[in-house]
Amino acid sequence: MAKDYFKIQGLGGKKILRGEVQINGAKNAVLKAMAAAILFKDEVKILNAPYTEDVKKTVTLLETAGAKVEVSEDAVNHSHVLKINTATLHNTDIDPEIAKSMRASVVMTGPMLSRYGKVSLVQPGGCVIGARPIDQFIEGYKKMGATVEFKDDVSIITAPEGGLRGAEIIFHLQTVGGTETLMMAAVLAKGVTVLKNCAMEPEITSLAEYLTSCGAKIEGIGTTTLTITGVEPLVSAGKPYVTIPDRIEAGSFLLLAALCGDDVKITTCEPKHLEVLISMLMDSGVPLQIGTDFIHVKNNGAVKNSELKTFNVRTHEYPGFATDLQPQVSVFLTQASGESIIFETIFEGRFKYTEDLIKMGANITIMNPREIMVKGGAELKAPEAEELRAHDIRAGFAVVMAALVASGESVINNIYYIDRGYERLEERLCALGAKVERVKGE
Ligand code: EPZ
Repeated sequence: MAKDYFKIQGLGGKKILRGEVQINGAKNAVLKAMAAAILFKDEVKILNAPYTEDVKKTVTLLETAGAKVEVSEDAVNHSHVLKINTATLHNTDIDPEIAKSMRASVVMTGPMLSRYGKVSLVQPGGCVIGARPIDQFIEGYKKMGATVEFKDDVSIITAPEGGLRGAEIIFHLQTVGGTETLMMAAVLAKGVTVLKNCAMEPEITSLAEYLTSCGAKIEGIGTTTLTITGVEPLVSAGKPYVTIPDRIEAGSFLLLAALCGDDVKITTCEPKHLEVLISMLMDSGVPLQIGTDFIHVKNNGAVKNSELKTFNVRTHEYPGFATDLQPQVSVFLTQASGESIIFETIFEGRFKYTEDLIKMGANITIMNPREIMVKGGAELKAPEAEELRAHDIRAGFAVVMAALVASGESVINNIYYIDRGYERLEERLCALGAKVERVKGE
């Protein structure tokens, strides 16, 4: 898997993709629900789970800690069911190799610290899109009475006698993982915790609602202030967590369909979570029909990309434009007509993919580490004798998009990243009429 690569036949600007693509459960929801199982005395069942590399890694993290995990396929819904029981969990040293390859591993520290009073974690790795420190997590734990020892690149965090204590924690920036992790740490802490300046991503709301339905006391769900009153370990009593649709996967396919699709219906998604992107594309001239759980790109084959109006993008915490759709929308803007500025407010290192797009003929100027200017109407070509690469999950999808828009055959390396966030991508693209082949690496 690690050395596989994609061979992609470019469509040369033709818009011929047709068919339906079913959106999976959200990667950035299911990984947190899996960590949340540590807060429960009984088994937690998770439905509509995607089965990506990161889910597999999180299964391993839980099993290494001593939990029991069962994965089964739900053939009817083309998804997976996870059953997690942490009653036998005995090891709170989070596996360093996995932690170094997946940022989401840090989320596990919250429930582990809250339930068992101790956790150790190496600096988490994952997508290289910036420094991605964990200072907000550490400061929060300290306010809850924990002590933090730093030894050989490992943070050893210990709760005070009697367990974590409720506290007021004001995040210095809206951190998705920080909000989820400290919220879960507060669920079993002694007393009341008030979290201020929280992120409000749908995945956070979905997690908070599930925990509350199983006995947690969380107020202010969906706002920037969460008030959590500590309780005893939770009980699911068979109530499953149903993974919400992956808004980033849906937005990724929508942008691809806008550039290369004639009639593509994106189903089992949640258009409400993509209002900014949908509004931008509609105003740009992409023919879209929006349903309660689908987005349909219809009669788009006749719409020339050079006729599409361009627009500026400023990434922002939810409900603003998602940073995880920034590389993909940049590819769209290389094709629309006119100039656009893309301002990346969340991560300071999220423009590496522009090297690959420029190799293919895109007209992009890097103004500074957080801002690029894109001139539209570029004719993209598969790079001569050079190979493209997936720098991170979302940049990987963006380079696949560019290779499909381009003329010629492209090779994309490092697609392990793509597999971390998009399940069976080549199968789903071929089902729409694209020619994408996965070549097994050694
Ligand atoms: C989550 O990462 C997502 N990952 C990311 O998606 C997404 O890009 C990001 O939220 C923003 O929406 C998962 O949910 C697994 P943050 P997270 O904490 O929680 C800084 C994908 O492709 N920060 O909201 O790590 C941080 O450096 C991935 O699916 C601190 O400075 O993001 C960043 O600049 C990529 N100190 C900003 O905050 C901290 O203690 C936002 O990060 C924590 C964060």
